[in-house]
Amino acid sequence: MAVRNIRTLGEEVLRGVAKEVTEITPRIRELIEDMFDTMYEANGVGLAAPQVGIRKRIVVVDVTGEDPVVLINPVILQADGEQTGYEGCLSVPGKTGIVTRANHVIVEAYDTDMKKFRIEAEELMARALQHEIDHLDGVMYVDKVKEGELYNNEDLKDE
Ligand code: NI
Repeated sequence: MAVRNIRTLGEEVLRGVAKEVTEITPRIRELIEDMFDTMYEANGVGLAAPQVGIRKRIVVVDVTGEDPVVLINPVILQADGEQTGYEGCLSVPGKTGIVTRANHVIVEAYDTDMKKFRIEAEELMARALQHEIDHLDGVMYVDKVKEGELYNNEDLKDE
């Protein structure tokens, strides 16, 4: 198990466009394992490679704690419907914001054998996929929060 250092808002690596993966090397497999370790250790439901300082188009997601999914070079093929809800990010510690996103998505990606697959998702999983795929293009959820709708977690506890 290797937990990597999570980069936080303000660090340049989070704002770049990540590169496509062309080949699964032992280093990439190790990175993916470490991304899961890092995500679970931080109690997150998703993590993108730039969040651990690696500019590659790799995302890991597990919204239930029992359904780990790896997406390599993911692309959103279809996005429809709308959901508005609370969102956080391991790279923006202590904050929560309200974000509107598509409620349903179809995503195409490659697995760890570089086989293409599609995943269809709704609600929380759809939100997580959109959030993580945004990271690959340097987009953070705070960019999508309306003015006045980014909160400190401490303040939300009082409500
Ligand atoms: Ni995030």
